[in-house]
Amino acid sequence: MSHHKEPAVIPVITVDGASGTGKGTVSQVLATRLRWNFLDSGALYRVLALAAQKHSVALGNEEALKVLAEHLDVQFIAQENKLSKIILEGEDVTDTIRTELIGNDASIVAALPAVRAALLSRQRVFRELPGLVADGRDMGTVVFPDAELKIFLIASPEERALRRYHQLMEKGINVTLSDLIQELRERDKRDQERTVAPLKPAADAIAIDTNGLTVEEVVNRILAEVHQKKAFPVISSLTTMELVEAAGVAE
Ligand code: DC
Repeated sequence: MSHHKEPAVIPVITVDGASGTGKGTVSQVLATRLRWNFLDSGALYRVLALAAQKHSVALGNEEALKVLAEHLDVQFIAQENKLSKIILEGEDVTDTIRTELIGNDASIVAALPAVRAALLSRQRVFRELPGLVADGRDMGTVVFPDAELKIFLIASPEERALRRYHQLMEKGINVTLSDLIQELRERDKRDQERTVAPLKPAADAIAIDTNGLTVEEVVNRILAEVHQKKAFPVISSLTTMELVEAAGVAE
């Protein structure tokens, strides 16, 4: 008889979708409720875009960007019920990376195959016990293809632009709704049409249309799926509503 024990698999829930679908808040709240680790993969692409700007690396220079990605000196410092603090080369860039310009640059560097390959292992190290909620575009298709639960969030461009509009207005940033819709369409096109890891649901993903749903409703729907999988305990004593409020971000 063999005494061989199966290696323990660290569970992962992937949450993919376009920006403005509420992905960020939904996955963060989910991670907190489960008391799991959280990966904001978009932040890595944003940090890389910022590093490129800082070191005057052109966004088309794939080789230089690959080297930059491999040596990226970035730290994610976990904070209670909030997004991690992000430190690039010793500097707090948590807010700096959230601008539309950096988001756009991130989408450009994210289209480069060598860059994506260089960032793979950096994303996989987040898979630690007791589990991981991974937020991005290719979490279920490329980075964690063996995840036990894969969610793909959808929302209309108008609804996504409107959410973004309210977020930016709250921060005192003036934009027009029509400009935002236009930018979203362009970014979507680039994210969907790139040849490596395009934005598309994994074959085994559960799609949730978030139009007209609140963050709590989306989280609760995902938790219903989680409950069906007996292996996933839900242990945070805070309610989803309390966590949404604590998160304080609406992306
Ligand atoms: O989710 P976000 O807006 O922070 O992501 C910024 C950009 O990074 C987005 O336009 C596409 C890219 N991205 C990606 O290609 N793959 C991921 N897993 C996450 C983000």
